[in-house]
Amino acid sequence: MLIKIKNKIFDSVEKYLKLKAYRKNSRWFYGKYVLGGIPFHLRVVTYLLKFKELCSYISHIFPRKIGTSDSKGKLTVEQENTHLKTLKENGILIISEYFSSEEIDHITSHLEHDISEPKKSATYGRIEFRNIDRKILSEVLLEPSLLRIISKFYQSQPFLRHSSSVSVTYPDFDDITSRDYYEKDKYDSEVNFANNWHCDTPYLFQCYVLLNDVDLQSPHMLFAKKSIHRPFGLNNYNASEEYVRDNFELEHCIGKKGTIYLFNGGSGLHRLFTKKDGFRLTLETYFTKGNSILDGYLPIKFENPDTVKNLDELQRRSLSSLKI
Ligand SMILES: [Fe+2]
Repeated sequence: MLIKIKNKIFDSVEKYLKLKAYRKNSRWFYGKYVLGGIPFHLRVVTYLLKFKELCSYISHIFPRKIGTSDSKGKLTVEQENTHLKTLKENGILIISEYFSSEEIDHITSHLEHDISEPKKSATYGRIEFRNIDRKILSEVLLEPSLLRIISKFYQSQPFLRHSSSVSVTYPDFDDITSRDYYEKDKYDSEVNFANNWHCDTPYLFQCYVLLNDVDLQSPHMLFAKKSIHRPFGLNNYNASEEYVRDNFELEHCIGKKGTIYLFNGGSGLHRLFTKKDGFRLTLETYFTKGNSILDGYLPIKFENPDTVKNLDELQRRSLSSLKI
């Protein structure tokens, strides 16, 4: 009951701010977190409502001990360090054809759903991916080199947020920009393609593997390079199209099948670029420093119960917050 009341108040404040932002035609943020023009008392209310949520993250600011990792990865130590540097600089790292075509075929052959004839959709068609064999787990989801890069980036043990999923992106419409999203009020509609520039929950680190060839004519993610270095604070949702394009160089997350992109979605602005009739299939794995674990959601099921025993400490610890 209390939560319902809180949400109602929060919604009303948001609606008011949205309207105010629209009238001011802000060039920075549309919508609920527009900077400037917000009366002080409303800003205080907004922060208070968010306070409890913020408190839940405090314990995760402190790094967790990183498990040792001596498993052989795909990269040499020098390559791992070079990629880490790029990731720290840009907030995103793309490595072309990191996984071979055979490895990708192995993943898709383990999907529990038929993906050969996908239907166009107004939303992501997420597919659960729960039965995981050792090859997929230790060589794809917890690939040692990638996991080491992520742990060094966060300087903390990364934890899998939930079992990975495969997403089918097959939109029946062309791109919707952040401005369209706001002006046409798609925010409240059923369209759910993350077309607005946004950051996700704090400390969310995302690892995507392209399971098909994706080019500029396909739906793909756009990332505002170096945006992780700008503290957005609570102003993290629905950044304006103009602000992003005027201030950042864009990264197009495209590539051949097997290409990966890692990005700090918790503090870097990103959105999906949609293209009518284009098709993208991605394997998505989400890590955090320990917050936002989706308890009970997509628990991991192993075909072979001995699977975990073969993992190194870094890999094993990354599974420790999940129901297995
Ligand atoms: Fe996102």
